[in-house]
Amino acid sequence: MPSYTLLINQKSYTVEAEEAMPLLWVIRDLVGLTGTKFGCGIAQCGACTVHLNGTPVRACSIPVSAVANQPVTTIEGLSFDNSHPVQQAWIEEQVPQCGYCQSGQIMTAAAFLKDNPNPTDQDINLAMQGHICRCSTYTRIRKAIKKAASLAKKLPTE
Ligand code: FES
Ligand code: FES
Repeated sequence: MPSYTLLINQKSYTVEAEEAMPLLWVIRDLVGLTGTKFGCGIAQCGACTVHLNGTPVRACSIPVSAVANQPVTTIEGLSFDNSHPVQQAWIEEQVPQCGYCQSGQIMTAAAFLKDNPNPTDQDINLAMQGHICRCSTYTRIRKAIKKAASLAKKLPTE
C-alpha cells in the first residue's frame, strides 16, 4: 500500500492508505482526529469541511493522494485553545444544538471571514449555503458570524 506524508494542523503524519481513500477517512481513522464529521460522503452536506491550503474543502470527496505535503487544517487546529474569533462567537451565541454539523460550519465561516471582514446577511447566506444543519441553527450561525467579524477587528494587528 502506498504511504503519504500529510501536514495536518502543522504536524507531519505518514500514513499507509489506498490512493483513493478519502481524506476524511485518513483524518478520522488513521490520524485519530474525530472533530471532522462524516455526514453524506458525497460533498453535499459540509460536515466534513477542512481547510486545504487555507481553502475550505470537503474531505469526504478528496483522495489522500491529492493532498500529500499540503497544509490541512481541521477544527482541532483552527486554534489550540478555542481562541479563534469564530469559535469564541460560536460559544457566546451558543450556536450548536446536536453539534454534528458545526465543525464544518465553523471551518467555512473562518475561511469566509478572512476574505470578507464586513459580511452582509446575503454574503453569509451565500457563503454558508452548502452546509446543512438538521437542527436548523442557521439564524444563530448568521448572528455568530457577524459577532466573529466584530471580534476579529478587536484582535491586535502585527
Ligand atoms: S460528509 Fe462530506 S460533504 Fe457531507
Ligand atoms: S447542530 Fe445539529 S445538525 Fe447542526
